[in-house]
Amino acid sequence: MKVLIATEKPFAAVAVDGMRKVIEDAGAELVLLEKYTDRKELLAAVADVDALIIRSDKVDGEVLAAAPNLKVVVRAGAGYDNVDLAAATEHGVCVQNTPGQNSNAVAELVFGLAVMMCRNMYNGTSGSELKDKTLGIQAFGQVGRNVARIARGFEMNVSALDPYCPDNVMEDAGVSAVHSVEELYRNNKVVSIHIPATPETRKSIGYELITSMPKGGLLINTARKEVIDEEGLIKALDERGDIKYAADVAPDRAAEIKERFGDRVFFTPKKMGAQTSEANINAGIAAARQVISFLTTGEERFRVNK
Ligand code: 3PG
Repeated sequence: MKVLIATEKPFAAVAVDGMRKVIEDAGAELVLLEKYTDRKELLAAVADVDALIIRSDKVDGEVLAAAPNLKVVVRAGAGYDNVDLAAATEHGVCVQNTPGQNSNAVAELVFGLAVMMCRNMYNGTSGSELKDKTLGIQAFGQVGRNVARIARGFEMNVSALDPYCPDNVMEDAGVSAVHSVEELYRNNKVVSIHIPATPETRKSIGYELITSMPKGGLLINTARKEVIDEEGLIKALDERGDIKYAADVAPDRAAEIKERFGDRVFFTPKKMGAQTSEANINAGIAAARQVISFLTTGEERFRVNK
């Protein structure tokens, strides 16, 4: 059995060591393709592998067609919008993710970004605090719940919107349940986005929602750039000089937005939310275990394609 770890953005070395142990202890062979710059390298590397572990690496019909022995793809992380699920099903390939394994890392970054933006990028001017401010969490999944947990330490007033989560789950976490996206944006000075990129959520956050935020509003996006309507974001930032936007996922027009709005916006150079050794170990080893379980017993608890 051959297991390929293909990561354009590599895991921490300590995570790879742990993954290697899981894979080799099961009698399988590990093949490592890191920091590849050309998709052709990925296409060549998948040619004879049984399993593939990826991060945000794109796996589409072309990759699947180049991998005739492939049986399982595990996305070490939460979002799997980088995998063509229908094509995987067509090729008889099981796709899985590792939900929750990197969520604390992403949630901590939310607060790293929030404090930095509230302190005016540490430029020496007087900023503001998070204590007693309203925080709206858009989607109460694993990351959203970690954000709520950390927000309690900051003594923020937290509410959340999630049509898939019962109100009592939020209330038990000390979070007020909100039932419309309009209400979430209108009533919260800080809004943190944790929705997946799907056809329904694509460009769903734009001018109307952003300009409905209270004075001094801060929008934080550690989810996906695709959920933002960039035209609307630019118009909102232009009209509302008090609004700030920080994202772990640089928009397509990042350079232009940065040039126009300066320190009111911030983008990480590469998606950094899950880029900690702890998250890499958690997600990477979970992915390696899931691959081995699937190959040896057919276990598919975390399967995300039909
Ligand atoms: C996820 O969906 O798990 C995060 O966005 C992390 O993505 P990454 O593995 O590319 O850092």
